Amino acid sequence: MENVIEQVYQINVEHRAQLKKHKPLVIWFTGLSGSGKSTLANTLEQELFENNIHTYSLDGDNIRRGINKNLGFTKEDRSENLRRIAEVANLFTESGLVVLAAFISPLQQDRALVKQIVGPDNFLEVFVDTSLEECERRDVKGLYQKARAGEIKNFTGISAPFEKPKNPDIHIKTEDQSIEEAIKHIKNSVLSKIEL
Ligand code: PPS
Repeated sequence: MENVIEQVYQINVEHRAQLKKHKPLVIWFTGLSGSGKSTLANTLEQELFENNIHTYSLDGDNIRRGINKNLGFTKEDRSENLRRIAEVANLFTESGLVVLAAFISPLQQDRALVKQIVGPDNFLEVFVDTSLEECERRDVKGLYQKARAGEIKNFTGISAPFEKPKNPDIHIKTEDQSIEEAIKHIKNSVLSKIEL
């Protein structure tokens, strides 16, 4: 960007990693609404915290009610939502944290941009694979019913697309696996990635 010159700081991400005794990371949970992204992220965060890992969670509550409250669910708004989240996640990883981000992130091109912004080495993609039928059966928030009734436009899985990740780092099939098994699997990958 013209006339904006990068400032070089003496304390960098490596110094912060030494202080925290682990590397930073973005754990990116993608999947349909009601697939179990937040449940997994929340449980994993508690376990990592107990292992003295410095974490922070990003989700709809702190993002769509705050920094992105001007955005809706069109293709363009979702892209901008995810781009901003990636920039925020990038700042948090620069600060040394392990970030847990739970967003539907339905399109391959948006997930690729997120990975590029946070840096491929800092990115662990977790596909929370729960079938539409099961998400709709659970319908924890009653949103699928509303979407079927035409009361919510552009609803992922009903009237807006979800492109399954072709090559996720971790693939969790919530209908075949317990939460405990899934957490153990993700946690092992995370711990090996953040080891100094
Ligand atoms: S995205 O696609 O990544 O930008 O979406 P995200 O920021 O994760 O927001 C998803 C949550 O918003 C609620 N919601 C909707 N989801 C999908 N489609 C439409 N149209 C929609 N409208 C509201 C919904 O509760 C999602 O929360 P989760 O936790 O995924 O169920």
